[in-house]
Amino acid sequence: MKDAATMASPAALASPDAYADAVATAVRAAAAYYADGSTPLGDDEYDALVRTIEAYEAGHPAEVLPDSPTGKVAGGAAVGDVPHSVPMLSLDNVFSAEELEAWAAGLERRLGRPVAAWCVEPKLDGLAVAARYRAGRLTTLLTRGDGLAGEDITHAADAVLGLPQRLAEPVDVELRGEVLLTQEQFEHANAVRTEHGATPFAHPRSGAAGTLRAKDRPYRVELTFFAYGAVGLPGLGHSALLARLAELGAGTAAATAAEPRRCTTLDEVRQRIDGIAALRAALPFGIDGVVVKADAVADQEEAGSGSRAPRWAVARKLKAQHKVTRLLAVEWNVGRTGIIAPRAVLEPVVVDGVTVTYATLHNPADIERRGLMLGDQVFVYRAGDVIPRVEAPLVDERTGAEQPIEFPQACPRCGDAIDTSEQRWRCVRGRGCQAVASIIYAAGRDQLDIEGLGRTRAVQLVEAGLVADLADLFTLTREQLLTLDRMGDTSADNLIAALGAARSQPLNRVFCALGIRGTGRTMSRRMAAHFGSMAAIRAADAEALAGVAGIGVEKAAVIVAELADVAGLLDRLAAQGVGTAVTAPVVAAPATAPGADTGAEADTGTEADTGAAGASAPLAGQSVVATGTMTGPLAKLSRNEVNELIERAGGKASSSVSKRTTLLVAGEKAGSKRAKAEELGVRIVSPEEFAELVAEQLV
Ligand code: IVH
Repeated sequence: MKDAATMASPAALASPDAYADAVATAVRAAAAYYADGSTPLGDDEYDALVRTIEAYEAGHPAEVLPDSPTGKVAGGAAVGDVPHSVPMLSLDNVFSAEELEAWAAGLERRLGRPVAAWCVEPKLDGLAVAARYRAGRLTTLLTRGDGLAGEDITHAADAVLGLPQRLAEPVDVELRGEVLLTQEQFEHANAVRTEHGATPFAHPRSGAAGTLRAKDRPYRVELTFFAYGAVGLPGLGHSALLARLAELGAGTAAATAAEPRRCTTLDEVRQRIDGIAALRAALPFGIDGVVVKADAVADQEEAGSGSRAPRWAVARKLKAQHKVTRLLAVEWNVGRTGIIAPRAVLEPVVVDGVTVTYATLHNPADIERRGLMLGDQVFVYRAGDVIPRVEAPLVDERTGAEQPIEFPQACPRCGDAIDTSEQRWRCVRGRGCQAVASIIYAAGRDQLDIEGLGRTRAVQLVEAGLVADLADLFTLTREQLLTLDRMGDTSADNLIAALGAARSQPLNRVFCALGIRGTGRTMSRRMAAHFGSMAAIRAADAEALAGVAGIGVEKAAVIVAELADVAGLLDRLAAQGVGTAVTAPVVAAPATAPGADTGAEADTGTEADTGAAGASAPLAGQSVVATGTMTGPLAKLSRNEVNELIERAGGKASSSVSKRTTLLVAGEKAGSKRAKAEELGVRIVSPEEFAELVAEQLV
């Protein structure tokens, strides 16, 4: 069997060998699909493969292989020995609005008149069954098989919701419809299967197939039936038939948001298709398309059927939401409350038009339940805005090179122990894990630069209950510190002094220390310059925040929400005099550089921390990039500190050289940025020359 990925492209088949290969692949995929619903190909890949086979056969009719899946119900794979009363047909597919229009025009040409009305309904992603009732009692349940004869699966009938043992009236009728697992039923099925040591189903449809066929299982898995046809209820148009089926007590899609609708124009049909497609992500069961049927009996009878499909109905296929890809790695992320959640890193795959690289794995128990291994081919599911998830591995496709997934032994964020007593693992520190991490971050060199407050001390302070967040640091007393292990007089004095110095850190650093999402060092500098005070930042709404270069509407909304979240912390910091310095906010700095983007530069070309007027500052209106290793008076400064210096001197610090750049501070090994600056004719100075230029600010 070829790798699914290599079969995904519908490239033309170039030789009889390639054609034979494609037929063999399709036959195997169809056989696996109809045996237990498993398949190494996603639906899109299978459809694309069959289309390449059809295209080849159209050009080489003499070479058509007898086992070719084209023109056969179920790709010729399904078997069964109970003859159907009337053949169970399949549906022709269209893949675009244009193809649908052409199909409808063809049907109307054949009829020699417009179609009286259409019925538009979901194409349910399960298995077709025929349920025979005698005097209103269910007697036999059959699979579709090859369309002419099916397999007897009556043993499974009482687990199928929507397929009553007794109908509301004592009629002789055969219901036809789809049996599927809703998402909830699928999750339940996999939970009980793994509890019983069985492998999980790869996705809901394979689950429905496996469950219907299974006999004598020690557990019960419920399924759902939706009727969309019948034998023995003649004279009813399609929508009237659906209403009658519901009246008899059968499940129909009428009870769902994607309910079938009668449409009189093709425009309405198109709208309803779009409507059902838009509902898809929110439906509690899978659909793989939308079925359009001529509603009137006269239209159906006159159009008739081919050997494989009726001419009065067609499936407008939607893109598959399940795709096969490879599980490359598992990452472990710690949330705000200390929950340690695994995330799958996948070989990028396009699902429903979006490239998926990461998918949720819920929790460690979930990984174990699904028996996942690194390198596995997995089914990934994505619908609408739903976070993609890994459904299950394709166990039959394993090569032996797969590796076990390693679970973390310690919290990946703070290194402490993990509480594994619940399904969702949690750092033993809970929210405190976040506290340790956020205190370490806040104390870092580019934020509050609190010397002597590294990981060990942060853990100690949190564990001793002295510190739960950043604000608590500033109420620490020498006496409290002395209660800690390995904390002598000198260390305590030093830490108190470092905390004292941190109180007077400028606004940009205090803001950065908060760790607000989307605001690193650069953005914090811009915000401090733009607003001038923490009070002004806190008072800003999303619109005001979006006035800062680099903050779009989405980020602005996140910042507003995060600031609201830390309101209490900010109040307590303010009470301690931390981040309370006020400077003149910048309305608009003059952009003097030729070709300067005034919008982008306006917010940042200022001296946020000294309060000096922008225009009188040595770098007023300049866009400055520092690169390479700083030497001389700048040697000890981090890149962030150099950038702060640039902005104190009235310039705008940037990390990349562009035509807007007016000055490059080129340290040792300046490399490509220097070359680019030379090419653009940008003025270049050494760190020593630059230090002289900004001597006043360099204190
Ligand atoms: S009508 C004679 N309606 O799709 C009409 N089929 O790909 C035959 N299916 O074999 C079927 N939802 O298993 C019809 N609303 C729907 C359907 C539906 C799902 C399945 C059915 C059919 C297959 C064709």
